Amino acid sequence: MEIFGVDIGGSGIKGAPVDLARGDLSEERFKVLTPHPATPDKVADGVREVVRHFGWTGPVGVTFPGVVTGGATIRTAANVDRGWVGTDAGALLGERLGGVPVTVLNDADAAGIAEMNFGAGRGRRGTVLVLTFGTGIGSALFVDGTLVPNTELGHLELHGHDAERHASTKAKDDHELTWEHWARRVQKYLAHVEMLFSPELMVIGGGVSRKAQKFLPLIEGIRAEIVPAELRNNAGIVGAAMRAAATRTDTDAVRAGTPAER
Ligand code: BGC
Repeated sequence: MEIFGVDIGGSGIKGAPVDLARGDLSEERFKVLTPHPATPDKVADGVREVVRHFGWTGPVGVTFPGVVTGGATIRTAANVDRGWVGTDAGALLGERLGGVPVTVLNDADAAGIAEMNFGAGRGRRGTVLVLTFGTGIGSALFVDGTLVPNTELGHLELHGHDAERHASTKAKDDHELTWEHWARRVQKYLAHVEMLFSPELMVIGGGVSRKAQKFLPLIEGIRAEIVPAELRNNAGIVGAAMRAAATRTDTDAVRAGTPAER
């Protein structure tokens, strides 16, 4: 079974059809740049461009970099236009895509669902945290495979600042930090998160997980096992498609192999 997944990020909107049995993209993904300002209307156009590129007309799962409640309503927008807050993104995108069903969920939650089913968290019980480092810091918390949605741990306070302003990869780029310097910041952040949740496993995702060997070996003093994400930058797309499948019918969700969703 295939469903289309779209990942709305701070820098790009990317998507592809997803093979739900394999948890992988069935075609090479297509990306457009995130418009600035990233208003609902402009982003919806970007999503349409990505979906149209493949001539896709079926259901679509979409990630959003903010809190999503009630299935599709946006509640926060830290790194995109504030105009999203209160928007029913499912309705907006569904209409823009010509009336197809659209499921929306938080980007880190989507990445987490994909990693728990097909990647670094596969088969892992207990408390697992998937953290994505990019424009912001996203978090997905799992307890025995069940997601606690919208945890927003990127906004924990660290040294009097929003943690993601201090330790995201955007902070690394903006302040031209060395890997060593940035790794110290990430280490402090992980120590803080560990103090609060004592996870058994922390999966480090986002684009920077490609370069995990540059900073993970520099991180010390954390009890939890720390591993890089395996689906890398495709986790959001895969997780979005999985959620869209799960929303359609429970039977499909089981076939699509989404135990973390049950
Ligand atoms: C948002 C989260 C999102 C994360 C990663 C944060 O600024 O508040 O909802 O998951 O960035 O995109």
